[in-house]
Amino acid sequence: MSSYFTHIVCLECGQEQAADPMAKACPRCGSQWLDARYNYQTVAGLWPAALAGRGDSLWRYGELLPLAEPDPEISMGEGFTSLTRLYSYERLYHHEHLYIKDERQGPTSSFKDRQAALAVTAMRRAGITECVLASTGNAGAAYAAYCARAGIKLWLFLTSLVPSEKMREAALYGAEVVKVSGTYDETKHVAAEFAKRKGIHLDRGAKAIPGKESMKTLAFEIAEQLAFNLGADASGRWRSPDWYIQAVSGGIGPMGVWKGFEELLQMGLIEKMPRLGIIQAAGCAPMVNAFKAGHAQAAPVIPKTLITVLATGDPGFSYGYLRQAVLSNGGTMEAIEDGRTFEAMRRLASKAGYSVEPATAVAFAGLEKMLAEGTIRPGEVVVVNCSGHTFTAESHILGDQYVHDLNLAAGQNGTAHLAPDEGLDSAIRILDEQVTSILIVDDNPSDRRLIRRLLQRYKRYRIFEAASGSEALKVVVDHRPDVILADLTMPEMDGFTLLERLKNDPQTADIPVVVVSAKTLTDMDARMLKEYSESVWTKGGFDTRQLVDHVVKVLGDVSAPPADGRLSRSYSIETHETPVEENTGDKQVIVIIEDNPQDLRLARRLLESEGSYRIISAASGRDGLKALYEHHPELLILDLMLPEMDGFEVLRIIQNDPKLRDIPVVVLSAKELTAAERTELEPYITSVVEKASFDRNQFLYIVNRILK
Ligand SMILES: Cc1ncc(COP(=O)(O)O)c(C=O)c1O
Ligand SMILES: [Zn+2]
Repeated sequence: MSSYFTHIVCLECGQEQAADPMAKACPRCGSQWLDARYNYQTVAGLWPAALAGRGDSLWRYGELLPLAEPDPEISMGEGFTSLTRLYSYERLYHHEHLYIKDERQGPTSSFKDRQAALAVTAMRRAGITECVLASTGNAGAAYAAYCARAGIKLWLFLTSLVPSEKMREAALYGAEVVKVSGTYDETKHVAAEFAKRKGIHLDRGAKAIPGKESMKTLAFEIAEQLAFNLGADASGRWRSPDWYIQAVSGGIGPMGVWKGFEELLQMGLIEKMPRLGIIQAAGCAPMVNAFKAGHAQAAPVIPKTLITVLATGDPGFSYGYLRQAVLSNGGTMEAIEDGRTFEAMRRLASKAGYSVEPATAVAFAGLEKMLAEGTIRPGEVVVVNCSGHTFTAESHILGDQYVHDLNLAAGQNGTAHLAPDEGLDSAIRILDEQVTSILIVDDNPSDRRLIRRLLQRYKRYRIFEAASGSEALKVVVDHRPDVILADLTMPEMDGFTLLERLKNDPQTADIPVVVVSAKTLTDMDARMLKEYSESVWTKGGFDTRQLVDHVVKVLGDVSAPPADGRLSRSYSIETHETPVEENTGDKQVIVIIEDNPQDLRLARRLLESEGSYRIISAASGRDGLKALYEHHPELLILDLMLPEMDGFEVLRIIQNDPKLRDIPVVVLSAKELTAAERTELEPYITSVVEKASFDRNQFLYIVNRILK
């Protein structure tokens, strides 16, 4: 097979130069944005017939690649990953034709394997033996693997926020991993400077010809596979989807995919271009921000997202390219908050059997948003690029109730609840409790917390919380609770709408709903509630024991309540104040993020001595955030000076995520805060405790006042 690569065009000034996979810059204007061009007419005469009988790897498209043949010593059969239809997901969203392009099937589990395969093959052909690359994670793993095969030494520059598992993977492949404490854009800068000083070849990612060209093969495969799935169109051509959706950081994926479809269109192999859905993490969405504001250039941002793979704060030229692509064809750019991403990740795994990495979950959360808002119209064919492992992220999304912990060897550790002679029966009974789930829907976090504790004091039910009707619907889809306790007045979607939605969907109509609300009911309200709910309880005006008994009855849970009188006290729920509540039994969870072991020990000891708090600690901002997602604590105690991601940044991420925003924060600070810092912190925190003038009693007083 030969390549029909004919020449290169400068994307900024149009200057042409000779075909060369390693070309670096435009000879006229110096731009690094170069584009390979081919003899499409000849290739159109060859494809698709010539492809029949070729192997299932991206090299089957050699005519339109800058290198036509793989190097057998380097290639690992990359490309030609499955295009799989997501039937159960389709049912969930009432939309047919949702497909996943399963890039997890590449040698290092992401679409970056395509790029690495071509780039490393081109390097070896050019006699390069050493290479520098900056990456947000996945390109690093892919290049490390391919460089190992090619015998090329790789200097891999990663930001310190890249999960250590990914760093270890690259190191295992023999890369020299350089961890940079800074943003990804700074890391890129450092890598380029290092390469220049040492005279080592720098891989220029999306700017390098093999990089973008490799991504075209995603488009070629999708068009060929869709024709297979949906049948060729009337004139026997391949098919484009209506939408191609991908999460974007630097943007090489959709840039290459767009170019691939353009080439197919030009050759008459497809009928139309797809629309692009470009999705970014809300904490690092320079493209989306600029797009929504109608700007032709993206202002760089400092990334504030846990999804490090997507942490390119300065997209530069790529934005203009993608914006043009989106505008030319009615696509869109959307931003997704991290909390939503983790929910989508869990949903995709549990509903569709796809374990993907957070960067892919961003794309799926984007898909969900576009479906919900009607951006994607009924019947449109959608393909989402999917990559990656979940091992780095499970703790973010699973929460602390993901495993039903049954300990038959009773009494061996503190969590065992079985007496030795109770046997299997009791074990089954306990499991029964643990798998009974209750959803509490209330926009007031302290009301939610109070109801949660009342119920959990009775039995170890699994409790989920939601702050609005729309959030509640998501939990219902994901977890099918056995009973729902719902408030009526909430922002976004109120309790009445929630009830209506639940009762009108045959899959949820049978879930009993108990209403707990402070709203004064009109006759019409009362009629509707009578039809749709089990019972209505007015906040502030009932004996909580009765409520719990009632919920237990609704659950059909007949086993006797505990005989120790733990529930005999009467609580009252006030709507707008923190409820006054006696602390008996259950512990409230406090997360402490503190890197100094002595300070941590002191705070932990003081709080534990109160007897009513369970302490979870983390020594870095990143681990701390994971702990917040995992444990949903009642309080966060936060040091400001932390390695890698400081307390200010942690606060900004918390503030940006509705899932975390409600958690009260006490700042522990080693230095006296400047007036400017105080002003910056003011809106987000409940109190500041200065370490220098630390007073145990005052500290406990502050914490107890917030939590009791
Ligand atoms: C699934 C997924 N989406 C998006 C990206 C971001 O890629 P890029 O930086 O090329 O935009 C990656 C990077 O590896 C990824 O794995
Ligand atoms: Zn030029």
